[in-house]
Amino acid sequence: MAKQTVRDYPVDRKRVLVRVDYNVPLDPTTHEVLDDSRIRATLPTIQYLLERNAKVILISHLGRPGGKVVEALRLDPVARRLEQLLGRPVRKLNDCVGPEVEDAVRTMQPGEVILLENVRFHPEEEENDPAFCRDLASLAEVFVNDAFATAHRAHASTAGVAEYLPAVAGLLMERELTFLGNLLTSPQHPFVAIIGGAKVSTKIGVLRALLRKVDRLLIGGGMANTFFLAEGKAIGASLAEPEAVDQARAIQAAAQEAGVMLLLPSDAVIADAVAPGATTRVVRLEEGVPAGWHIVDIGPETLAQFTAALTDAKTVFWNGPLGVFEIPAFAEGTRALAQALARLPATTVVGGGETVAVVEQLGLVDAFRHVSTGGGAALEFLEGRELPGVACLHEKMPERT
Ligand code: 3PG
Repeated sequence: MAKQTVRDYPVDRKRVLVRVDYNVPLDPTTHEVLDDSRIRATLPTIQYLLERNAKVILISHLGRPGGKVVEALRLDPVARRLEQLLGRPVRKLNDCVGPEVEDAVRTMQPGEVILLENVRFHPEEEENDPAFCRDLASLAEVFVNDAFATAHRAHASTAGVAEYLPAVAGLLMERELTFLGNLLTSPQHPFVAIIGGAKVSTKIGVLRALLRKVDRLLIGGGMANTFFLAEGKAIGASLAEPEAVDQARAIQAAAQEAGVMLLLPSDAVIADAVAPGATTRVVRLEEGVPAGWHIVDIGPETLAQFTAALTDAKTVFWNGPLGVFEIPAFAEGTRALAQALARLPATTVVGGGETVAVVEQLGLVDAFRHVSTGGGAALEFLEGRELPGVACLHEKMPERT
């Protein structure tokens, strides 16, 4: 990759400001961390720095507090979980700038870890305010960005701070850029993308970009319904975006022009309500969905077609569930697809919060070549857009000949 990483920069005994993405789900009652995969993903960088006796100052956002202190979005539960995972103390501070923070940082010993408070408690973070960037930068001698999942935001702690400190990628950032970058630059063929999720309108950019790379594009989830509308099929009370019908048609035309096989579900599980315990049955989409019924999952025929389209794949990218997977009765298609992918002898890459949650729930993380921590960031990257949190990092020196 073209960006310098922690391995390219002397970090020994230095104060290092590490931007991590600890935007993790918390239990609404106990406030404990429900899914620690984003925390675990940062351990290689933290351990690398600790092995070199660096003073590690971690900074993250959590949720969208809107520039003010929100008690439920403090990072204390994250600090507790990180401490367990690291097996050493993590000192959690109650702010990310100001005298208390400056004092704590000044007296840090090599090998110590500090976690600053939620950086989005300050409106200057999202405004990318230069004075705030300077305050953050003054805490450290080096900036390491390991928050790939927030790299699509041009905020103070993700990009602005790099104006004032040497800035390099962390090991997670490096891994994400390598695996997702390879999908764009050197995928092995056949390359198959499976895109699901609720809305086609939010994924138009990535669909268009993928059509230039893949051999087959499989579409499922709520977004497939908009394609059915475009084909004049009856979809009952199913979720769809009538205003995006033209975009769906344009994707179909672009697929045809690019010679990409675009596969939509041919059958579906429908339910009389999107709720646990609803009555369900399987219909062929050609026959249409009766009024008042909802498409909630792909049907068995579609699963067989999707699985067949994957058998010889050498590279697969999957983003978005194929049904209303939060309700276990409607998660069968998504689960079965995850299991089929896990068995494939291919480079399988998963991106997006919900899709990663499925893979985690099934205990299949290790069966995939790469499970991205990025949702929106992964999609923007695959669209070919420059991510501010990556663009701000130092380029690698050209090799001497
Ligand atoms: C994410 O979870 O996608 C990232 O942490 C970014 O969060 P944001 O959408 O609130 O900027």
